[in-house]
Amino acid sequence: MSERETASLIPVLSAQELAAIDAEIAHVPYRAAVAIDALKIVQAHRGWVSDESLQAIARHLEMSAEELDGVATFYNLIYRRPVGEQVILLCNSISCWIKGCDRLQAKISSQLGIALGETTPDNRYTLLPVTCLGACDKAPVMLVGEELHEDLTEQALNRLFGEGET
Ligand code: FES
Repeated sequence: MSERETASLIPVLSAQELAAIDAEIAHVPYRAAVAIDALKIVQAHRGWVSDESLQAIARHLEMSAEELDGVATFYNLIYRRPVGEQVILLCNSISCWIKGCDRLQAKISSQLGIALGETTPDNRYTLLPVTCLGACDKAPVMLVGEELHEDLTEQALNRLFGEGET
């Protein structure tokens, strides 16, 4: 058997990932209904969803990789490229925009030395824009990892990321 044939027999998804996806499938009438959950499960284990992982999930859900990629692209909390240990999601929708999210984004970029869409060289943070986080009355808002930061100020950013250059 060639090396390539052997490699194709090694499952891409772990037993743990498959068990978690199958547990979701048990609650729905057809496998593709758990597409987002399956993507989230794999992302929780790996930090992001590579092309190889996406293809394996699609096979398991009996859907095409293109269809599943469409779901992953539409749902902006699925990362299709590697991200840092913590993802900073800075809301740039209307309430946060009115309350100065642009200024805060410039400050974070200065503090961490990265633009939107980039990851710090030490792989600690990735900075991404996000549409409404559902806390508009507390704008401006950002999510760092699992933690929501509301009524965000430059002082709060200093506490989180250091003074930076601004
Ligand atoms: S507009 Fe930013 S949380 Fe809704």
